[in-house]
Amino acid sequence: MRKNIVAGNWKMNTTLAEGVGLAKDVNEALKGIDAKCDVVICVPFTHLASVAGVIDSKLGLGAENCADHVKGAYTGEVSAPMVASTGAKYVILGHSERRQYYGETSEILKTKVNLALAENLTPIFCIGEVLEERENGTFLDVVTKQIEEALFDLSAEDFGKLILAYEPVWAIGTGKTATAEQAEEMHAHIRSVIAGKYGQEVADNCSILYGGSCKPSNAKEIFEKPNVDGGLIGGAALDCASFMGIVTAF
Ligand code: 13P
Repeated sequence: MRKNIVAGNWKMNTTLAEGVGLAKDVNEALKGIDAKCDVVICVPFTHLASVAGVIDSKLGLGAENCADHVKGAYTGEVSAPMVASTGAKYVILGHSERRQYYGETSEILKTKVNLALAENLTPIFCIGEVLEERENGTFLDVVTKQIEEALFDLSAEDFGKLILAYEPVWAIGTGKTATAEQAEEMHAHIRSVIAGKYGQEVADNCSILYGGSCKPSNAKEIFEKPNVDGGLIGGAALDCASFMGIVTAF
């Protein structure tokens, strides 16, 4: 059966020293509790190797992106093999900020997912609608299309290695959270889309996280929904106590 997971996405925050300190704090806090979910921190590329050196195996480590090429003349890019070589096990792909600000298309994301899987990295693949699509009622179709375009060329075996994260763009960093009902509606929809392509077992085994202004105060209500298997946490992951407050919502 699928896992419950709380993953932090630090985005472009923290210096190296701050990041290593935060990772140490989360690592220590995690030692002291019997967490009912897997816990992962996704950190800037510059921090990966150092953070890998200060955390225990109980805390997962991931990158926030990887390149759509394996190696070569791509100045400034960081490849999936490079990410894996740091000890990271996860990589966020398709975050709305990457789609919106860096022009990442489904075609590009498809390549990134394959490159990540080839390195045994677990992609945390993000999908979600913008406000206009929420308001004009096309949000379910928009998310279906994002999944179909980027992921449905995968074999059932490879699809089974993914974690999905539903992040309504209008809820990211806005303090405006989807209601637990809105999250559940979308997560159930996503699971049915997966079941339609790969069958119920693959769908039932897929962890689908919610992301968007998730905080200790709202995490429990959202995580209690049957199709919500945890969270992808931005702002609240930058403070150890807040992040742990979400981890312990399970
Ligand atoms: P916030 O939790 O800051 O809204 O960010 C969510 C997010 O984008 C996680 O990937």
